[in-house]
Amino acid sequence: MSMAPKTKRKQKIKDVFVIDHPLLKHKLTILRDRNTSSRDFRAVVEEMAMLMGYELLKDIKLKRIKVSTPLESTTGFVISGKMLTIIPILRAGLGLSAGLKKLLPMAKVGHIGIFRDPKTFNAIEYFHKLPPDIGKRLNIIVDPMLATGNSARAAIELLKRNGARKIKFLSIISCPEGIAEVRRHHPDVPIYTAVIDRQLNDHAYILPGLGDAGDRIFGTK
Ligand code: URA
Repeated sequence: MSMAPKTKRKQKIKDVFVIDHPLLKHKLTILRDRNTSSRDFRAVVEEMAMLMGYELLKDIKLKRIKVSTPLESTTGFVISGKMLTIIPILRAGLGLSAGLKKLLPMAKVGHIGIFRDPKTFNAIEYFHKLPPDIGKRLNIIVDPMLATGNSARAAIELLKRNGARKIKFLSIISCPEGIAEVRRHHPDVPIYTAVIDRQLNDHAYILPGLGDAGDRIFGTK
């Protein structure tokens, strides 16, 4: 009896979703503009988080419930608060998480503190606090800039070590280097972004980018 050769099971590589919408393009241009005040910058980051969250949550599972209208009862659908965690990478991720929290007030929020070594650009974790049941949740890591990919990779590895199985990554601007790094190490984690910029410069800033997202959100420069 001839046996068919065993085929290697292909690892599923999840896509990078570039969310292409005129509103996002408009708002991104405000963020890029060096003359945008930090007050406006913060507000626009929050708005973009909500618009992008709409797309990122397209496949979220719903719970069917009964709801009574003033006229009769019918079927409704809710997103359970137990299903989601929003996880900003400190500090710039806080800008995006503020918007997502408005969209998903029932979600839990975890925090991961990572800074990048200014010489090596390696990610150095200095803090984390996560809900205990992240293994049962969709965990949305947020960081406005996916640059070298080192912080994203470290954050994903931290979540996986703590039991997370479902993770999505949300950034406003990404670049080919950062995407390649995340996909190489975590092909199971989809990336949602508003744009893929050209490249990193020698200081690991994205070009054309928007500068330092944390400084621009918090007005620290
Ligand atoms: N972090 C930022 O804030 N900006 C970049 O361009 C890259 C990383």
